[in-house]
Amino acid sequence: KVVAVIMVGGPTKGTRFRPLSFNTPKPLFPLAGQPMVHHPILACKRIPNLSQILLIGFYEEREFALYVSSISNELKVPIRYLREDKPHGSAGGLYYFRDLIMEDAPSHIFLLNCDVCCNFPLPDMLEAHRRYDGMGTLLVTKVSAESANQFGELVADPITNELLHYTEKPETFVSDLINCGIYVFTPEIFTAIQDVSTHREGRANLRRVSSFEALQLATRTLPTDFFRLDQDILSPLTGKKRLYTYETMDFWEQIKTPGISLKCSALYLVQFRLTSPHLLASGDGTKSATVIGDVYVHPSAKVHPTAKIGPSVSISANVRIAAGVRLISCIILDDVEIKENAVVMHAIVGWKSSLGKWSRVQAEGDYNAKLGITILGEAVTVEDEVVVTNSIVLPNKSLNGSVQEEIIL
Ligand code: GDD
Repeated sequence: KVVAVIMVGGPTKGTRFRPLSFNTPKPLFPLAGQPMVHHPILACKRIPNLSQILLIGFYEEREFALYVSSISNELKVPIRYLREDKPHGSAGGLYYFRDLIMEDAPSHIFLLNCDVCCNFPLPDMLEAHRRYDGMGTLLVTKVSAESANQFGELVADPITNELLHYTEKPETFVSDLINCGIYVFTPEIFTAIQDVSTHREGRANLRRVSSFEALQLATRTLPTDFFRLDQDILSPLTGKKRLYTYETMDFWEQIKTPGISLKCSALYLVQFRLTSPHLLASGDGTKSATVIGDVYVHPSAKVHPTAKIGPSVSISANVRIAAGVRLISCIILDDVEIKENAVVMHAIVGWKSSLGKWSRVQAEGDYNAKLGITILGEAVTVEDEVVVTNSIVLPNKSLNGSVQEEIIL
């Protein structure tokens, strides 16, 4: 049997995702019309002999309850949300729930960060992992040398694929091969974490001998139940024939900012063409709007037949789109109203916002730049004919004049 664990983190982690994480936990933010965490969950479903999927985080239970029960029923796989009482780190959270994870005595455990976007080649990873016969296999990919320092940089043996060296977000360049945040382990991973824990407790006890030294070290060391997978667990195990790498040549992104989430929404829409074409709007019906490229429209949304939408557009529940509206590369969240002849391009429009007639909410679409896309927070009103360009607007604002390259607080 195989268990999949998805680390969803908690409220303090989503700060770069503001203003979109004020009311919705980042893992539930919709990409291609489905919560972020839905994409790895669907991928887990393709793992042979999967017995359960566990989401581990420190968000309130009630925030995940509805989604988890509905997706569990839909996919017919037991899916549970497990809440930590406080953050234990990416390996600490796993260790904290080790008894529940090992409940069905799985032979393998997948561990996935929830904030990555890729095509999750999990069955292929498992096959490679079995061949390598180590304790763990990491999904890795090549990125540009300039961006590598945002990730765990690593060196692998070109023939055996063994992980030889690992440094988390190094200041000086090590390698353009990086950790994708997707792993498969044997249950030995728990012994590895236990060993680090025992070692740390030992040191903590020693330290009590000298109070001056204790004070000095306490500021430098972590609590005895907090473990980061990358730095505390994986790094010391490199070059010991226990960790291996599996490289993906397909797309991979880390979703830390709203700009990248817009890019990932587009990537997942393209994926849907292969995996779930029934989710994409076709625009074939004579009464429906003109659809260009890959577009998701929630069944409850009302789109006027003269509207033109796409490519890369995702429209959530209860959205109303009036005549002559043009939408390109955008995410329109629940309960938004877009009035006649408005244009939205390279933007995310927050829940319950309202765009007036002939208004424009737009950006140039540089996903990596801070103001490269326009973001409207929840319940923002854009009056008729107002143009909002390359800006971020915080919730509940009303714009009656045009703005450009501004953050409206
Ligand atoms: N449950 C729980 N509890 N989850 C946590 C905790 C915790 O205390 N801390 C972090 N996480 C989750 C985050 O939500 C995320 O999904 C994952 O664990 C990793 O988060 P971080 O430890 O903050 O690392 P990162 O995202 O900056 O970088 C990691 O992922 C990159 C790939 O996206 C590292 O592993 C990098 O090496 C890697 O390149």
